[in-house]
Amino acid sequence: MATDAFGRRIDYLRISVTDRCNLRCVYCMPPGGIDWKEHDQVLSFEEIERFARISAEEGISKIRLTGGEPLVRLGIVDHVRRLRETTGIEAIALTTNGTLLARYAKDLAEAGLKRINISLDTLEPETYSRITRGGRLEDVLAGMEAAFAVGMDPVKLNVVVVRSLDQDLLGFARMTVDRPVHVRFIEYMPVGDVGEHSCTSAEADGWTEADHVSTDEILERITVEGEAAGLGVLAPVARDDAPGGWGPAMYYRFPGAAGTLGVIAPLSHHFCGECNRLRLTADGGLRTCLFSDAELDVRTVLRTGTDEDVRALIHRALDSKPEGHNQQHGTVRYMSQIGG
Ligand code: 5AD
Ligand code: SF4
Repeated sequence: MATDAFGRRIDYLRISVTDRCNLRCVYCMPPGGIDWKEHDQVLSFEEIERFARISAEEGISKIRLTGGEPLVRLGIVDHVRRLRETTGIEAIALTTNGTLLARYAKDLAEAGLKRINISLDTLEPETYSRITRGGRLEDVLAGMEAAFAVGMDPVKLNVVVVRSLDQDLLGFARMTVDRPVHVRFIEYMPVGDVGEHSCTSAEADGWTEADHVSTDEILERITVEGEAAGLGVLAPVARDDAPGGWGPAMYYRFPGAAGTLGVIAPLSHHFCGECNRLRLTADGGLRTCLFSDAELDVRTVLRTGTDEDVRALIHRALDSKPEGHNQQHGTVRYMSQIGG
C-alpha cells in the first residue's frame, strides 16, 4: 500500500495516453490549438505498461486512461487488454469526449473496459458545436448509446459548468430520469494559461473568476428548475448507493430516476485531504497534483533505468505530493496535456 507524506493512501493512477484531440473545447485549448508533442517525446504503450506494472506493485489498484482524447491513439484497445494483463488490475476506466466511442465501444468492452466517463457539456447541438469548436452532438450521443448497448457500467457524463457558456442544465436532469446515466457537474478549474477574458469572448484566453460557478449554485439551480419542471424533489444518494467512484463526487437523484446527478467541487470545497491520485502525462511527466507543474521525469528513467529506478521515482513522487493546491490559478500545461 502506498501512502504519501500526509498519510493519504495513493491507489489511483491517471494516465494520459496522448495530448492530441479531435476537438478544441474553448475552455481546454487556446483558440490556435497547441503544439502536439513529437512522437518520440510521447511514451510508447510498452513504456506505459511497464510503469503501470511497477505502480501496481507499489499499491496502485485503479487506473484511468485519459487524453487529450484517448481514442485517437491507434492501438488503444490492445493497450487496455495488455494493461489488465500486465498489472492484474481489473478497475480500468476511460475518459473520452465520446465522438469515437460508437466505433470502439464493443472492442473496448471485450478488452475488459467497463467504466466510461464521457465529457459532454450541453445537449443542444449548436451549443455543443460552439463549445467544442466543431464537434457533432449526435456522435457523442451515439457513443453513449453504444456504451449502454455493450453493457458498460457505470456510464458517467462529465459536464464542466462555465457561466458564459449559458448551458441548459435541466436537460441533463431530465436525461437521468429515463437513462441509467450518472451526470456529474464539475466546477470550471483554472488550469492552463489563465487569462483576463472569459472563454466565450472573441479574444478568449481561458479561465476567469466570473466564469466559475460553484457547485452550491449548480445544485440550487437544478433543484429549483427540476421541481418547476415536475421532476420532484432532488435528494442526496447515500454513499453505498452512489455509482462506484474513485473520486470526490457527491450524488443526488430525482424520485424514481434511473440515473443520478453529481457535483464535483475542486475549488469551492477543498478535497485535497482525500486526494488518492497520481497523474502520468503523455510525454512521461509524473504529476503529484493537477495544479502543480512540478513533474518528475518518468520518461528518462523508463528509457535508461531499471525497475528499481522507476520504483524509487514513484516513492519520490509520493514523498513530494503537496498537501493542497491553495487555489493556485493557472498551470504551465493545458488540461489536454495533463489529462484532467
Ligand atoms: N475545468 C474543469 N474541467 C475541465 N476539463 C477540461 N478542462 C477543464 C477545466 N478547466 C474536463 C473535460 C473532461 C475532463 C478530462 O476534464 O471536460 O471531462
Ligand atoms: Fe479535447 Fe477533452 Fe480538451 Fe475538449 S476538453 S478539447 S474533448 S481534450
